[in-house]
Amino acid sequence: MPIKREAAKFKSCRRWAAAFLNMTYSCQCLCDLILVRVLWLVIKHKGAVTLLLEHEDKMKLLIDEEYPLAAKYDPEWIFENKMGCQCLWLAESLARIMTLKPGMRVLDMGCGKALTSIFLAKEFGVTVFANDLWINPDENWERIRQAGMENLVFPIRAEAHALPYAKNFFDAIISINSFQFFGTADTYLADEMAHLLRADGEFGLVTWGPEKEFDGKVPDSMEQNWWPDFYYFHSLGWWRWHFEKTRLFEVVAGDDMDGDGVRITRQWAKVMDKHDELHNNQIMRWSRMVARRNAAQADDFRS
Ligand SMILES: C[S@@+](CC[C@H](N)C(=O)[O-])C[C@H]1O[C@@H](n2cnc3c(N)ncnc32)[C@H](O)[C@@H]1O
Repeated sequence: MPIKREAAKFKSCRRWAAAFLNMTYSCQCLCDLILVRVLWLVIKHKGAVTLLLEHEDKMKLLIDEEYPLAAKYDPEWIFENKMGCQCLWLAESLARIMTLKPGMRVLDMGCGKALTSIFLAKEFGVTVFANDLWINPDENWERIRQAGMENLVFPIRAEAHALPYAKNFFDAIISINSFQFFGTADTYLADEMAHLLRADGEFGLVTWGPEKEFDGKVPDSMEQNWWPDFYYFHSLGWWRWHFEKTRLFEVVAGDDMDGDGVRITRQWAKVMDKHDELHNNQIMRWSRMVARRNAAQADDFRS
């Protein structure tokens, strides 16, 4: 009898041991599977993993030797007040193909947090009406005062279809990364904008968009990161025709930021940790354009 009991005990122990070994083996397999999966993910996203930058490195990227005027500004200030781009690079590049002189009245349409308004006033001595909708002018005024530009930059809140300015008031108008939100209708320039600019005054535009208009929908590789309203991002050719067909403007200059439009798109994407196809291709780029208000047509508008 005791032998039988011992044998039964031994059998049960063996079963437990086998179950234990089985479990350990299963756990080991599971761990291996997880490890393999993690390794695979690391290999697949190796670019993204290695490209995730420390804040300090991002600040360094915001200073670029191609844009020496913008490089004088605190990258923390630029980052803190960002609205989708390194707007000072865009403003500096645009200013290179415009005439901006002290005493000129400039409208900064869709100025956002007024960084470009402050920049143009400081660097070129122009008087800027910093017009925006989403950003509270009280907030912009504080920023303007802190930058010491209170005698040259005036914050205004006005919707793009209800602008409060006098006819022929501005010597120049600029719009950086904002015209796509309100200015794409065929009627917009003639109805709401052209009459604010004096004859021969310059309209400077900076926009982000494809090299050429898409023939139908956006390429598959970009679709995942494309929102339907992104179709308001147009090519430089589209914007050129948008202005010229009104006959109220003559486009006098325009390019992809002197060949830098793709590079600065990618550089900004690094700062924003965006490693997707939409921001890292040869298609989407920044462009700048200057259109001169047609003197011959200066009084021929509907507003
Ligand atoms: C992407 S932000 C760019 C801001 C700024 N130009 C910059 O580069 O930092 C676009 C700006 O367009 C302005 N905006 C959009 N729709 C507008 C409208 N209907 N009237 C006036 N401004 C408008 C918004 O208030 C916003 O600040």
